[in-house]
Amino acid sequence: MSLRTDKLAALDLGPFWVRRAVLASMAVAAEPEITAPETTAAATPAETPVPAGQHAPSPVARTAQKLLEQVTRSAHPGAQQARDAGRSATIEPEQDERSQRIAKLDWDALQDDVRQCTACGLCSQRQQTVFGTGVRQPDVLVVGEAPGAEEDRQGEPFVGAAGQLLDSMLRAVSLSRKDQVFIANVLKCHPPANRNPAVDEVLRCSPYLDRQLALLQPKVIFAVGRFAIQHLLKSDAPVSALRGKVHEWQGIPVIVSYHPAYLLRNLPDKSKSWSDLLLLRDTLQNILREKS
Ligand code: URA
Repeated sequence: MSLRTDKLAALDLGPFWVRRAVLASMAVAAEPEITAPETTAAATPAETPVPAGQHAPSPVARTAQKLLEQVTRSAHPGAQQARDAGRSATIEPEQDERSQRIAKLDWDALQDDVRQCTACGLCSQRQQTVFGTGVRQPDVLVVGEAPGAEEDRQGEPFVGAAGQLLDSMLRAVSLSRKDQVFIANVLKCHPPANRNPAVDEVLRCSPYLDRQLALLQPKVIFAVGRFAIQHLLKSDAPVSALRGKVHEWQGIPVIVSYHPAYLLRNLPDKSKSWSDLLLLRDTLQNILREKS
């Protein structure tokens, strides 16, 4: 592994690469935490003849499968368990259908679907799903990574130590989860021992976040940590390179920053996250001004 990769991994900041062009062509979005070389559905021929009586995988499924194979072949410290889970991941045609079904659910049906979800192995160990909380027409949607143990117990996102920091961060720019914010995670179930989300878990869970985004239509998205950022921006850049500018998810401005749990371990980066919060505040104020 390169020195740069070592440093980024030590900071828990990546690297993670998925080309926008690839993911734009996928109905479901894989979220590898490491390099997936440029691959397009068109450039991915069906290498293996399909035995009689079996369905050929769709171009989407082939591309996603290829990404998964590239991702799970690569090395990344601290993610062995997640890679092991990802290694067995396969993108079935049903997964495309499932994503399309979820993309049509209304809010209540979406909540029910999440509550009953058994799409990945995390369901067997969770105490409950963590759908997200906050207001239904939020100024800001905060997107985190996955529920921790405390969130799993309480059924609410960001209620542990990282959550307290998140609340203070929001308060510092006059935002409150009670009346302006919705908070959700990429994963709706707690990964055991707080390990990183596995590729297949993200793949199976992200249609829920995508539907939440579409229904909530927040004015601004605040993505904290590499898993949220990677899913929303489909970028191969580390958090440090993406901070400080306004990105976009389907026309909605996206501000990125470090995950509060990372900040608890890396106090010097709190000043950077303060700049990110100011950018969040200014972006929101501009939008509100334009609308008034
Ligand atoms: N970390 C997250 O990303 N989400 C939570 O809900 C709690 C901790």
